[in-house]
Amino acid sequence: TNYVAEPFKIKTVEPIRMTTREERSEKLREANYNLFGIDSDDVYIDLLTDSGTGALSDAQWAGMMRGDESYAGARGFKRVEAAVRDIFNYKYVQPVHQGRAAEQVLFPTLLTQGKKCISNMHFDTTRGHVDLLGAKPVDLVVSEAKDTRNFSPFKGNMDTVKLERYIEEAGAEGVGLIIMTITNNSAGGQPVSMANMRGTSRIARKYGIPVIIDAARYAENAHFIKMREEGYADKSIIEITREMFSYAEAFTMSAKKDAIVNMGGLIGVRDDQELYEKVRGLTIPYEGFVTYGGLAGRDLEALAIGLYEGTEPDYLRYRIGQVEYLGGLLAKKGIPFQYPVGGHAVFLDAKEFLPHIPYTEFPGHTLACELYIEAGIRCCDIGSYMMGNDPETGEQLKSEMEFTRLAIPRRVYTQSHFDIVALALENIKKRASEIKGYRITWEPPVLRHFTAKLEPL
Ligand code: F0G
Repeated sequence: TNYVAEPFKIKTVEPIRMTTREERSEKLREANYNLFGIDSDDVYIDLLTDSGTGALSDAQWAGMMRGDESYAGARGFKRVEAAVRDIFNYKYVQPVHQGRAAEQVLFPTLLTQGKKCISNMHFDTTRGHVDLLGAKPVDLVVSEAKDTRNFSPFKGNMDTVKLERYIEEAGAEGVGLIIMTITNNSAGGQPVSMANMRGTSRIARKYGIPVIIDAARYAENAHFIKMREEGYADKSIIEITREMFSYAEAFTMSAKKDAIVNMGGLIGVRDDQELYEKVRGLTIPYEGFVTYGGLAGRDLEALAIGLYEGTEPDYLRYRIGQVEYLGGLLAKKGIPFQYPVGGHAVFLDAKEFLPHIPYTEFPGHTLACELYIEAGIRCCDIGSYMMGNDPETGEQLKSEMEFTRLAIPRRVYTQSHFDIVALALENIKKRASEIKGYRITWEPPVLRHFTAKLEPL
């Protein structure tokens, strides 16, 4: 796979520090083998997340100087509102400080205790908010997602056959909400097809269940539809986005991904004024007055600009091209990963890389620790370690996939950084059979992976 050259030049640089293997082993021990506990100054290439880690453009920085810091009625709100109306064709918009804040505000308006919440796959914070409401998250991703070896164009899809069967069995009144996560982060940043959005919405309407979109990576999903789905090659990213969002009632968005801001989130409501009023009502106590929603005026400006920059075709070709380049290097070296690569990350198949480590000893987390020790590369587990325990029984949940996610920040790293990542994995592969798993020594009840303490076995 050829590297798609950057459609920008570099105006500001941030130095990064090299460390020795001994230093890194010590840092990891001090952090109780939790990579979220490592100082970023001790990281060489940070692939922990693509969230809030992107590089702003000069247009965004210039916009920030114009930020209106008024408490009420700030210009930035109008600009964000206009961008959302244009790109998504939604009437109502509520800014919030990040994606999980959007979940905290929107979910109580749609979900109540005991209801099922069905998704192609819940991301961790989304699952957390469903759990906190006493509702039950159910993941119904297509089975192709679990076959990491073989190509399938839309591994992020909802299994619509299972969806309808589930609703029939649970009863429509028992299902509170359907959430389409685009792209499907936990399945490997895999896209959802337009046909699948349409099909899911048709079933939801039949049973009177609202559909919302978890929209963090809307533009990457639209790019994949343009590349892979018949009938969309000649449509613009914005046209595709409008159609995708026409199949839902509302969306929550972490704007820290495709909208390329360091902080920000959105709730969009297509046309349901009553729902919008409820959202505004909860935003004020949780996030702040409705025209700033937890953001500074300058953040709103950066967001209004970033929403468009994320949809530019040259940018998207380069962006997805970077992830494909890394995937291509790994394929050549026989390193297993969710194939094809996703939009924002390469998801290493840790179950296959470390077949001797059972899910109870966290293969995805183990491989992430090895990458840190090997080359100062930081990444994270998307598997049983992240999934946590069953809230009812307290038992460790078994994730069907055990991934180590190499998430690529936007407009930050260059070709040579990816060459180093591939080399590090090649080295680890040579000693894979000697690598041992981990045990948790302390964990909090919800979203444990951020703060849990572990020890090597
Ligand atoms: N939904 C999805 C699909 C996400 O990937 C995330 C965050 C959120 C919601 C929550 O948004 O962080 O702004 O509160 N994902 C990041 C990640 C953290 O690393 O994948 P947030």
